[in-house]
Amino acid sequence: MIDQNLYLMIDDDPEQSIPLPTADEEKEMSTSEIPDAVPILALRNTVLFPGVVLPITVGRDASLKLVKDAFGDDSLIGVIAQKSSELEDPTPDDLFEYGTAASILKLIKMPDGSKSIVIQGKRRFRTKKYIQDDPYFIAEVEAVEEEYDTDEIELDALIRSIKELAIQIVNLSPNLPSEAAYAIQNIESPTFLIHFIASNLQIEVNEKQSLLETIPLVERAELVLQHLNRELQVLQLSEEIRSKVKTDVDKQQREYLLRQQMKTIQEELGEAEGGEAEVGELKERANKKSLPDHVRETLKKELEKLGRTNPASPDYAVTRNYVDWILDLPWLEYSEDDLDIVRAESVLDEDHYGLERVKKRILEYLAVLKLKGDMKAPILCFHGPPGVGKTSLGKSIARALGREFVRMSLGGVRDEAEIRGHRRTYVGALPGRIIKALKKAGTSNPVIMLDEVDKLGSDFRGDPSSALLEVLDPEQNNAFNDHYLELDYDLSKTLFIATANFLERIPNPLRDRMELIEITGYTQEEKLAIAKQYLVPRQVEQNGLKEEQFSIEDDAISLIIDGYTRESGVRQLERALGAVARGVAKKVATAELESADIIEGDIKEYLNARRYFSDTAERTEVPGVATGLAWTPVGGDILFIEASVLRGTGRLILTGQLGDVMKESAQAAFSYVKSHYKTLGIPYDAFKYWDVHVHIPAGSIPKDGPSAGVTLLSALVSIYTQRRVKHTLAMTGEITLRGLVLPVGGIKEKVLAAKRAGIELVLLPEKNRKDIEEIDPDVLQGLDVQYVKRMSEVLDQVLLDEAMADVEEFFAVPENERPEKDKAASNGTLIHEESVVTD
Ligand SMILES: Nc1ncnc2c1ncn2[C@@H]1O[C@H](COP(=O)(O)OP(=O)(O)OP(=O)(O)O)[C@@H](O)[C@H]1O
Ligand SMILES: [Mg+2]
Repeated sequence: MIDQNLYLMIDDDPEQSIPLPTADEEKEMSTSEIPDAVPILALRNTVLFPGVVLPITVGRDASLKLVKDAFGDDSLIGVIAQKSSELEDPTPDDLFEYGTAASILKLIKMPDGSKSIVIQGKRRFRTKKYIQDDPYFIAEVEAVEEEYDTDEIELDALIRSIKELAIQIVNLSPNLPSEAAYAIQNIESPTFLIHFIASNLQIEVNEKQSLLETIPLVERAELVLQHLNRELQVLQLSEEIRSKVKTDVDKQQREYLLRQQMKTIQEELGEAEGGEAEVGELKERANKKSLPDHVRETLKKELEKLGRTNPASPDYAVTRNYVDWILDLPWLEYSEDDLDIVRAESVLDEDHYGLERVKKRILEYLAVLKLKGDMKAPILCFHGPPGVGKTSLGKSIARALGREFVRMSLGGVRDEAEIRGHRRTYVGALPGRIIKALKKAGTSNPVIMLDEVDKLGSDFRGDPSSALLEVLDPEQNNAFNDHYLELDYDLSKTLFIATANFLERIPNPLRDRMELIEITGYTQEEKLAIAKQYLVPRQVEQNGLKEEQFSIEDDAISLIIDGYTRESGVRQLERALGAVARGVAKKVATAELESADIIEGDIKEYLNARRYFSDTAERTEVPGVATGLAWTPVGGDILFIEASVLRGTGRLILTGQLGDVMKESAQAAFSYVKSHYKTLGIPYDAFKYWDVHVHIPAGSIPKDGPSAGVTLLSALVSIYTQRRVKHTLAMTGEITLRGLVLPVGGIKEKVLAAKRAGIELVLLPEKNRKDIEEIDPDVLQGLDVQYVKRMSEVLDQVLLDEAMADVEEFFAVPENERPEKDKAASNGTLIHEESVVTD
């Protein structure tokens, strides 16, 4: 509705302004007589409506002549729109049929010879016939009657709507003066209002023309209303777009401005460079690094984010840290495998003595790896007592393959996040141990040792073993998702090896996924060989000695094994040898010695007094001492049970940190002895006037379990019969009150311990026979094993025939020394006194 002619309506200059026609004037105009023939002025791009004032520029010669003649004799002209605005010289056919009679209100001569005229429409007409075409057209016309006979109310409503919409449009149009709204408001004549609005509508000429040709007033009003509606919608939409664009631009500008300000402030504070330079460096690093596509994409986004973040903000540090992790990880970096099996074998032999079966299995494993070319083999798990070389075997495998080795201790890990990382939303979040291990390795195909899988915990923070399951599953681990990284990491080229002390404590699903390889403890001879071939040379080197400066006799090593260590593995032995080597090194350094050849007698000087005595013979020299076999977390061990009698009232006294189960075993054994006193040949006075004290020495270690039953009973029978226990024999087994011997656990470790201690015969429950059958016969060499079902068989085997004293005499108590009657009533009371025995 932008039209230059509107100014005429609102011009402040009273001289210039042409008043709006009132309703009456309008009516008069529309019924005024028009001549039968009028000169026709063609309008190029608009339509003149009755009552409307229109300024036009007249340029064409014909039109100039027409205007001059008509203005001269103040006569009406006929104004008709051209069908096409392009035509320079329209013929009658190029003009519409309907036009408007008009009077020329003003004529203004322009300097270039053209003229501007102001015309006002009077009444519509229809052309009947052109009667002249030179110098301008003259046509015969007939006036068109205005049809007023309409429903007043309907027209009223229409007019009101038109006014409302028109005013809205004026208000929305940025190039229309707001006074226009005022003018519209003041238009009284409905016909004029319709014509005025129609004339000013932003529509095509032919649309305007059809408005002019619509004779019934109501129809014309409705059409105008439709056009107005459309126009309003267009305006509203464009207004919406405009304001949206504006706010977008505003926001961007605001941010830009703020950023500039921030930059200035940072520069002032001397913090400027930081960010940008750093991001640039990181980008360069990213470009140089080979990364999987999905990682590169994320990295790109993060770097962009970093560039937008203030280096002093905590967000910056968080993003920076994340970017560093991505850049530090060896995503696509792999070391080349050395799959020479012969070489691998020599590496394994170089590092470890014996362990033939284990080494063979490892070599098979490597051979399969070589042939298959992937890691989809079960994970190896070495299990056995401490210090037998589980961890160091893992290192050897890495060395044999030419891979990086990372040890990851799982001891005490209870939180799933330790394996899988914390989500980045946590303050101070970091990746889990797997990702950390890879960073440490610097390659994506290292050997990762999952040490101590049996010591994994689990609690409310989630089960770390379930995360491990995913890590170890060859079907899943090519896309391991750490919570911190949130990027899949391919672990499928990593070789995982697990170690454990106790198989039973490895979570079941985890255990199922692994190939279990047992490494048992070493015998005395094996330890000696390991010491000579591996531990001594290593300690010599580690303590800065030369080969020729240190040697140690076999006897001396054996003494260390027997007297200073008690273990299944060789860790203590290695430490003790290290202490000896250190002592020698000190003497060499102070020039006290040039070299040393350590003999048995020297050991005391370097390691102080011996700590352990393998003293079965010595200890069992007296009646009442029996040798049992125990299972401890550090492997098997032998244990002595000592019983002694003292004058009393028949009480059983127990000491040596015994647990409840062991105490009950002791009571059961005591009851058995008492109830079989006759067959065992024990005088009943032995229970009446004597207390018996059972002690289990070597005992700062708490002891529990039922397996000492047979030993407890043997010790008791030994003391009451005064027959000694054979010192070359050790035993284990649970007993029942009726003297049956029940099977127990830990047989393998116990048997090894017996062998270490120089025991020749081991008595085991019949039901444990199968455990022995599973043990490598080599390990059992030189050890006799016998199986028993009942306690009577045990006693037959265990006790020497000869009694050290006549029991009747031994337990006889003179009448006057017997305790008073009431005291004897405490017969059979259990007394348990805890005593901590340190050795
Ligand atoms: N057969 C062997 N030959 C040579 N050295 C050995 C042998 N067995 C163990 N060792 C050495 O004993 C030391 C202890 O071994 P390692 O640390 O591997 O024990 P481990 O089985 O992992 O024990 P833990 O269960 O306590 O972790 C290492 O220095 C290792 O080299
Ligand atoms: Mg270890």
